Amino acid sequence: MPHDPNNVVRVNPNEPQTGVIKRAAEVLQHGGLVAFPTETVYGLGAHALDVAAVREIFSAKERPEWDPLIVHVADIAMAQMLVTRTPPAFDELAKKFWPGPLTLVVYKAAHVPDEVTARRNTVALRQPRHPVASALLAEAQLPIAAPSANRFGRPSPTRAQHVVEDLGNRVDLILDAGPTPLGVESTVLDLTQSPPAILRPGGVSLEELEAVLGPVTMSKCVTDQVEVKGLRGPGMTAKHYAPSATVELFDGEPSDMARQMAERADALHRQGKKVGAIVSEEMRNAVESHTQLVACFGAWGAWEALARKLFGVLRVLDSQGVDVILCPLPPAKGLAMALRDRLQRAAGGSSERK
Ligand code: TXA
Ligand code: MG
Repeated sequence: MPHDPNNVVRVNPNEPQTGVIKRAAEVLQHGGLVAFPTETVYGLGAHALDVAAVREIFSAKERPEWDPLIVHVADIAMAQMLVTRTPPAFDELAKKFWPGPLTLVVYKAAHVPDEVTARRNTVALRQPRHPVASALLAEAQLPIAAPSANRFGRPSPTRAQHVVEDLGNRVDLILDAGPTPLGVESTVLDLTQSPPAILRPGGVSLEELEAVLGPVTMSKCVTDQVEVKGLRGPGMTAKHYAPSATVELFDGEPSDMARQMAERADALHRQGKKVGAIVSEEMRNAVESHTQLVACFGAWGAWEALARKLFGVLRVLDSQGVDVILCPLPPAKGLAMALRDRLQRAAGGSSERK
């Protein structure tokens, strides 16, 4: 079906227009789907307590029903209405990191639908920081269930155009506020485990959390756990956040990685493959002469810049029809840990080339 551009509405990212926010809130209140920007990525939102609306999220995204959704809240008071008991760490973390890119997994209240939590007794909660998301939550006065607004398994959307590409007419309204400021998803922290466990690294780092909580463990996200148990949905692979192209990762010093990427690009070209590369400033010269499609994110260590660009670059290289994307692997610390995680998933869980 051709896309109807009438479902895309531009909105000011800093001072969202009241009329637009009211219209979006009404769509949610009537059980519709609204794609909206958060500070991390665009979300595909529905009224979290409306079971039929929540089911629409799963069908629009083609998301397997076993993968639970994050519920977005207007404030801590709204979060408290969706939980039974919360550990003291919940208040401490919410006060310190909300609104912001931290999702807290806690025991759910009985009225939170099984469809949202994939029949778990826990719910994932987050108060987003983007002015458009905040205004929408305040206006609708509803908890909004929202996964990233991409088709399941694809890179998350950091622009409204990405939502249009993946979901188009399956969404009632898409709020276009330009690129999302952070570009990588929230950190998912499970507070029902002791010590707390990071299920997915993201916009709040392990180090920042440990400064508040003491030791925090790194765990596998739900998707990985389900795979381990052999309950994978039909047609699923270990790949996630993934472009159609194969992603090959490189580890080590920037100069070594650049040399290895150049050699690998030559070898792939000899096999007739079309190659794209993601590089830092330092790697650019060494790699550029070996492949035309090079996306540079900035200096090695400029992780905020890489976070903003990564998902968009994966989509662009895909649209150029590359067979293989070569990319250096950021270190496992700070914000880089989230980027490292997404790249490893985009590569299908395979380990990096040496
Ligand atoms: O930044 C973000 O988190 C974005 C924006 C839109 O808020 N949302 C997002 O949602 O990335 P999604 O659905 O793409 O990823 C949510 C992750 C999934 O890995 C899911 O398995 C996990 O959170 N999750 C949700 N509820 C959970 C629960 N009750 N227990 C454990 N993991 C949960
Ligand atoms: Mg997602």
